[in-house]
Amino acid sequence: MGSTNPLADGHVVGRPCVPSCWMPEAISRHNGGLMQISSNSSTLVLGIESSCDETGVALVEVGGSLAQPQLLAHALHSQIDMHRAYGGVVPELASRDHIRRVIPLARQVLEQGGRTLEQLNVIAYTQGPGLAGALLVGAGVACSLAAALDKPVLPVHHLEGHLLSPFLSADPPEFPFVALLVSGGHTQLMQVDGVGRYTLLGETIDDAAGEAFDKSAKLMGLGYPGGPALSRLAEFGDAQAYKLPRPLLHSGDLDFSFAGLKTAVLTQVKKLGGQPCDQVWADLAASTQAAIVEVLVKKALKALDATGMKRLVVAGGVGANASLRQELNAACAKRGVRVHYPELHLCTDNGAMIALAAAMRLQAGKAQARKDYAFDVRPRWDLQQ
Ligand code: KG4
Ligand code: ZN
Repeated sequence: MGSTNPLADGHVVGRPCVPSCWMPEAISRHNGGLMQISSNSSTLVLGIESSCDETGVALVEVGGSLAQPQLLAHALHSQIDMHRAYGGVVPELASRDHIRRVIPLARQVLEQGGRTLEQLNVIAYTQGPGLAGALLVGAGVACSLAAALDKPVLPVHHLEGHLLSPFLSADPPEFPFVALLVSGGHTQLMQVDGVGRYTLLGETIDDAAGEAFDKSAKLMGLGYPGGPALSRLAEFGDAQAYKLPRPLLHSGDLDFSFAGLKTAVLTQVKKLGGQPCDQVWADLAASTQAAIVEVLVKKALKALDATGMKRLVVAGGVGANASLRQELNAACAKRGVRVHYPELHLCTDNGAMIALAAAMRLQAGKAQARKDYAFDVRPRWDLQQ
């Protein structure tokens, strides 16, 4: 890359290196520097995700002759190894690591995607929800880079990224659908009628499903992050071995509660005392997973009944869980419901879903990218707002 490249070392926040009269074909200028997508040519979006413990950057192309959004390249750096020693995410360390990773990852995706900075049409970033310091890194880099290049920026809601991520899969959904959003911080059921048309049907009143996996795993000495570890151990266990609660299963609404499950797991761990054998831990892991999965499946089916919809989209980190997929597939097949998931590697946080959400919002006319580089982040942010 040449010396005017703002991604070159030591040149992160820079001067505009592209003439301000430069205007990508795919974008037309509106009052106040607002940008919209044109249907004639494709639009190239760089997406940056930095809301928690993963730095993700990706290139997505949309529109023009493309029938579907295309993921040209994506790169991810997981901070799991760094946080493991502390048993969970340390926010300050997370922010510092995002600073170290984001520019090299951006370089990597441009190279992999065979595109140059000048070819970018929009730079998107996660505005929230998430850790304030971590979000500020992605937002700051996105806005600085965009300002240096004289390109527009688009802030994205992290959950909207998860929600739309199955549109990058080999089996993309069609609107409308019911979405089961199951991540480390959120558990929600939504009615999704189109891009930006989201109705909350129910959500957790305390812990999220991912948190239930993580906290139970911690109690079993499985470390961080617990979800994948607990799920691997559960493969060897008997899911009927321990009777664990299924909170709010028959509540009549579409809300969830997982805090009681964690307490029940703690009680079991205390009862077991000493150093139980491996099989005991595997049985407890399988029983815990079965409790979480049963509640998620039953409530998802209830949401399908309530809305009369025949399509379910599952998104977020817990969507990678093999048992959840198996149970949902079986239950939905019986009812003639189609289920869609993101590709496995796009279930947990990544930049592709952020670039995609930005591209789909632009395409649907639900957002306009702006050449307005003042930024803020929204650590707490409801998708419906
Ligand atoms: O969506 P995500 O990457 O981050 C948030 O936005 O929160 O989700 C992370 C969550 C963690 O709680 C992690 O333990 C869980 O997803 N997770 C899993 C699996 N893979 C990730 N939980 C159960 N089984 C898995 N295979
Ligand atoms: Zn997430």
